[in-house]
Amino acid sequence: MIRLQRVTKRYGDTIAVNELSLEVNQGEVCILIGPSGCGKTTTLRMINRLIEVTSGHIFVNGQETSQIKPEKLRQSIGYAIQSVGLFPHLTVAANIAVVPELLHWEKDRITRRIEELLALVNLNPREYAGKYPSQLSGGEAQRIGVARALAANPPILLMDEPFGAVDPLTRQKLQSQFISIQQKLKKTIILVTHDLNEAIRLADRIAIMESGKLVQYDTPQVILSRPANKFVHDFVGTDRALKRLSSISIEGFVKPAPSVMIDASNREIASVIGYRRYAWVVDKNGKLLGWLDRTNLNEATSVRETMVQGDIEEIAIPNNATLHEALARMLGQGFKSIPVVDEKGKFIGEVTLSDVEAATAEMES
Ligand SMILES: Nc1ncnc2c1ncn2[C@@H]1O[C@H](COP(=O)(O)OP(=O)(O)OP(=O)(O)O)[C@@H](O)[C@H]1O
Ligand SMILES: [Mg+2]
Repeated sequence: MIRLQRVTKRYGDTIAVNELSLEVNQGEVCILIGPSGCGKTTTLRMINRLIEVTSGHIFVNGQETSQIKPEKLRQSIGYAIQSVGLFPHLTVAANIAVVPELLHWEKDRITRRIEELLALVNLNPREYAGKYPSQLSGGEAQRIGVARALAANPPILLMDEPFGAVDPLTRQKLQSQFISIQQKLKKTIILVTHDLNEAIRLADRIAIMESGKLVQYDTPQVILSRPANKFVHDFVGTDRALKRLSSISIEGFVKPAPSVMIDASNREIASVIGYRRYAWVVDKNGKLLGWLDRTNLNEATSVRETMVQGDIEEIAIPNNATLHEALARMLGQGFKSIPVVDEKGKFIGEVTLSDVEAATAEMES
């Protein structure tokens, strides 16, 4: 789908990108990573011809990009730029509409597309369409940036640190969203990041760059277990076992765990949770609400009064999360297990610290 053949970019004496060859297949996520100034942004911008190559060839869908008009080329390539880059004087809706308007879509179609995309990135259209970028949180702005890149439904997406400027928790949420959106849309994506954990989690293949050159291009598992040289080894770091947790889905580790309904009686609770001290609390539809410490529960109190309620995105992890995330949450909350929910917030089971420890031990042996 995208093929770079010995691509070089020079600025005077500076070689920003040096004989870079890289191929990304249709529907694949390629993550470009490497130290600041190694040529990541330059590489992206050469693909959509915001920058012209000094030498070498780039092919998109088998066609050499130098033979395609830049405007035409960019219609098939969505671009989410470093630091979001929303137009501050335009509303969220108008920002998303930029490319469809350039393409002269009909008004109704644009309106529908805006609603569709806002829903896709989990923002309520009625609430957000009319807002201005200054009225958005960092994470919301980044999601709008992604929605805008997707507006004309391009088969290819170039994303330059799309989740750069947000706190770790929001970042994890955006990553989870990215994964589920990509499962639906199957775009061909090149994404730049500084964050190795992010790369491991999102990539089909990771391209590690150093001083304009490609030093290794492989799956996350191979990069972690067989770094090509000392640079990659050092870049990947010494806590490789821990990092490898980022590439393992929790799916195989989710175990059933007792859950009690919010209106359960004390006797029901005792029969459900047995010897355990804690139980997860759900509503009548099975949606996770919080947890319960049974030592706080006595004759005079009810689940409703004693349970600890929480924002589901903070107390639970989605079933497509990684072991690394599970571990980080457990350590963050001081719990030895974390509940797992499906995309509707329904309780599925839990992942325990001992399972994560066992997985790490296995990797190291
Ligand atoms: N217009 C320019 N003129 C001269 N040098 C440039 C220009 N644009 C980029 N460079 C140089 O090319 C190199 C690669 O820059 P690039 O922006 O691609 O890096 P990057 O990997 O995206 O870095 P970061 O992680 O900091 O965003 C850098 O050394 C930079 O200084
Ligand atoms: Mg950059």
